[in-house]
Amino acid sequence: MTKLIVANWKMNGTLKNTHKFCQQITALAQETETKNTLVICPPAPYLDALRNDLKKSDIKIGAQDCSAALEGAYTGEVSAQMLDDIGCDYVLIGHSERRQQHKESNALFSKKIHQALDAGLQPIFCIGESDADYEANRTQDVLKEQLKALENFKKNKNIVVAYEPVWAIGTGKVASPEDIQNTCAFVEKTLSSEYALSPFILYGGSVKGENASSILSLPAVGGVLVGGASLKASEFWKIAIAV
Ligand code: 13P
Repeated sequence: MTKLIVANWKMNGTLKNTHKFCQQITALAQETETKNTLVICPPAPYLDALRNDLKKSDIKIGAQDCSAALEGAYTGEVSAQMLDDIGCDYVLIGHSERRQQHKESNALFSKKIHQALDAGLQPIFCIGESDADYEANRTQDVLKEQLKALENFKKNKNIVVAYEPVWAIGTGKVASPEDIQNTCAFVEKTLSSEYALSPFILYGGSVKGENASSILSLPAVGGVLVGGASLKASEFWKIAIAV
């Protein structure tokens, strides 16, 4: 099965590095084929450069966030339509860093997902429990609550969900294959029974070249969302071809 391999560069990189990454990944893609779909989500100012550099490749581009509004007096915001306009196919919504640092809520995520779908983008809706929730065995309750943001999108085929345990992000601590499989299967079951959705479920949190194959081989995992290891083309490529 084709897997979805998504790079989230977060607020890292320079224009020079972006061009270098594109040159390197294009060369790697010419050497080895992959059946997987690759998506790169750089910081917004580099989207256009990335689109231009990758236009001859099959690699897609995505944004790390979009506005909950269509247009208007929203200083600093970028609308989903603008992202579509410059060639984005995907947009991350609900990343735990947005939840923690910007106090974004389910109601806001719902609006963002609505804008993304209306603009023809595929939202990648991120969910995940904190360390304290994990330790207290509250993972399933927390995820169920977070998934309520999808209440208005029943049966929508264009939604992707990424499960990223907060305690595994940028820490080098990866969830065990058993936890990843069980939790992704739980998300899948909840989405199908309560929202008639059957999206790709991605796993994210300290994914690297060395653990990508064991994670991507799990039956409930449709792909991965990669932070730190996606900044180097050679490391990201290892993940892209891991299965
Ligand atoms: P790391 O791969 O650096 O743990 O980050 C994961 C992440 O937050 C991707 O969105």
